[in-house]
Amino acid sequence: MQVSPSLLAADFGRLDSEIDMLNSSQADMVHLDVMDGVFVPNISFGFPVLNAVGRRSEKPLDVHLMIVEPQKYISKVRDCGAAIMNVHQEACVHLDRTINEIKQAGMKAAVTLNPSTPVAMLEDVIGELDMVLLMSVNPGFGGQKFIMNTLQKVKRLRDLIEASGSHAKIEVDGGVNEHTGRLLAEAGADILVAGSYVFAAENPHEAISRLRNL
Ligand code: DX5
Ligand code: ZN
Repeated sequence: MQVSPSLLAADFGRLDSEIDMLNSSQADMVHLDVMDGVFVPNISFGFPVLNAVGRRSEKPLDVHLMIVEPQKYISKVRDCGAAIMNVHQEACVHLDRTINEIKQAGMKAAVTLNPSTPVAMLEDVIGELDMVLLMSVNPGFGGQKFIMNTLQKVKRLRDLIEASGSHAKIEVDGGVNEHTGRLLAEAGADILVAGSYVFAAENPHEAISRLRNL
């Protein structure tokens, strides 16, 4: 299992040492949650913070944009050093074009689905995607309860990926801990995002390793 700790749950007063903790951990990526107060009912951080994280992080940046019109910011996200750019299906009218532009900019392209959006919405683009991010909570806040229906969704997505010959990885975000992480591993997820489970842990390194070993 791969792990992408979400910096949203970090202590922003000491971001340098939180990033250093991740640098010295088994984390595979760093997950960065950008919120605009329009697409989701909360505001997190924007490009100045993404740039600072990009300079200090030795792990690839997994950028999750919870914003309207994410296609306007593709080059700015790339310039922060992002490896993967996640856009919400619900925020993109011309999703196929946006996916292509993300890849042309040199990043991996990922599409995120809200809990209420069916996997079938990706049928016609799955072959172009490097990753699908399934939300297992309604986006906007850390520390929420995992929505169990996500387990069925992971299985349906796995079936779609196999049927279409896509190489897309399955990432899941929201309410992930050791228990839900194990269920997700059984259902077929490839990558787990975890915020509070990692940063509220007594020993974040161990929390990351526990998820990684699932
Ligand atoms: C929620 C964000 C998540 C969040 C997860 O909108 O997309 O990445 O940080 O937090 P936890 O792991 O605490 O549910
Ligand atoms: Zn996220």
